[in-house]
Amino acid sequence: MAVRDARANESFDLRKKVLRLETLYDVSRALNVLREEQALVDEIVARAVSLLDAERGFGVVFEEHGSPAVVSTVGFASFPGVLAAASDPFVLDLCRARGPLSRTGETVLGRAAGTVAGAPLVVRERVLGVVVVLDREARGGPGAAFDEGDRRFLESVAALAAPALDALRQLRALEADVDRLREENRALKGSLGIDEVLVGDSAGMRRVKDLVLRAAASRVGVLIRGESGTGKELVARLLHAASPRRDAPFLALNCAAVPETLLEAELFGIERGVATGVEARPGKFELASGGTIFLDEIADAPLAIQAKLLRVLQEREIERLGGRRRVPVDVRVVAATNADLEKAIRERRFREDLYYRIRVVEIPLPPLRDRREDVPRLIGHVLSRIAARDGRRPKALTREAVARLLDYPFPGNVRELENLLEGAVALVPGDTIEAGDLQLRGARPADGVSGSLDLASLELQHIRHVLESVGGNKSEAARILGINRRTLYRKNVTI
Ligand SMILES: Nc1ncnc2c1ncn2[C@@H]1O[C@H](COP(=O)(O)OP(=O)(O)O)[C@@H](O)[C@H]1O
Ligand SMILES: [Mg+2]
Repeated sequence: MAVRDARANESFDLRKKVLRLETLYDVSRALNVLREEQALVDEIVARAVSLLDAERGFGVVFEEHGSPAVVSTVGFASFPGVLAAASDPFVLDLCRARGPLSRTGETVLGRAAGTVAGAPLVVRERVLGVVVVLDREARGGPGAAFDEGDRRFLESVAALAAPALDALRQLRALEADVDRLREENRALKGSLGIDEVLVGDSAGMRRVKDLVLRAAASRVGVLIRGESGTGKELVARLLHAASPRRDAPFLALNCAAVPETLLEAELFGIERGVATGVEARPGKFELASGGTIFLDEIADAPLAIQAKLLRVLQEREIERLGGRRRVPVDVRVVAATNADLEKAIRERRFREDLYYRIRVVEIPLPPLRDRREDVPRLIGHVLSRIAARDGRRPKALTREAVARLLDYPFPGNVRELENLLEGAVALVPGDTIEAGDLQLRGARPADGVSGSLDLASLELQHIRHVLESVGGNKSEAARILGINRRTLYRKNVTI
């Protein structure tokens, strides 16, 4: 009898395991095709509730940059809302634990639950949300408490869902980027002049614009240099839009982002049957025929690719991977880098002959901190673009806020200015953005916001420490720092 019971138990356990695996399999397939966050969360909550025989369940994905919160519930007559869920002690414990939890006799969302289990959705150390199930249903009364196996199941569901959600959010962000690029391209192709697109009247920017207009007409190689966020890609697109090639494609490829093994096929295409199941496909050079290719982070192109690029530039022909045929191509190459290419040449990481080919004209983009006079116009430009996109009136900065930005070193250059303003616009309900609404990097190290190690932020932090140590006495702080008081005032540091 005991043996039969044990056997029955074993086979029951086995069936349970198989069912769980099948469910996970179904969930993973579903997550692959779902394109909406809501549908994705609905799916995992419904599966968790039904597999674990729970009476109720909910899933919450917290709000994040531009992505609204998402809630999904099963078995709740009324749900207190995402804010209440996000501040529920059990949910907070899940976020802290970074792993699954189960408990009995817990109050969740203000109501007693006999048994509760949940798991956080974690991606790269970030908790995106949680999935929670409450109370087990069993024939004729309350079921057993959620156990280790249930926690493991929830953890697996969460592990499948979190990257899928993350990918969806990244996709949204990319789509927003693409919209912005489309809009910019329209502007570039339309009646707008270069000044409306490439904002700035500083000597550095005037030189950039002059070089762009002069280099656009020919097909000589252009190398754009500058820190991240200074507008290298924008200038590349402007070069294309101002050229006779403007109606042919402009294609960009980031040499650092594409794995070496894929880069060659990506650039030059691939012939059918190079490996089993491989279909023939053209590369960017063929696709951009008559137009422009933008090779971003060119310093990161592997030497083998550099050799092939050189051949294309010299012979204006490409050969697909695994192909015998040479295909003539007419493409202009614009490259960009933030790296010390000359050093890379000395260290034999970059071919000198390719270097001369791609930098017949060199366009250096100055960092924003070296052309602060451009900041006010850039602010206006970015704010009206955000407003046009959102169909609202542009917000404005107070004088103090502008002053704060004029003093800020912008380690992330124009892109950082855009992000700062985007954040402030989202944060401020009214029409006016004040200095305190700007979340400057390194501005408040005590809050732990600053992880920045660039010189300018460190300088600000140091000044702040000295000021704090002398109780805010600026004359005394200036003496200790070895700078004059005016300079210190201009740094606009507050403690
Ligand atoms: N002078 C400028 N005027 C207007 N927008 C700019 C300017 N420079 C950069 N931007 C904007 O800043 C952002 C970052 O520029 P991007 O070309 O991607 O920089 P990089 O390629 O150097 O990292 C983009 O949104 C771009 O449109
Ligand atoms: Mg870039």
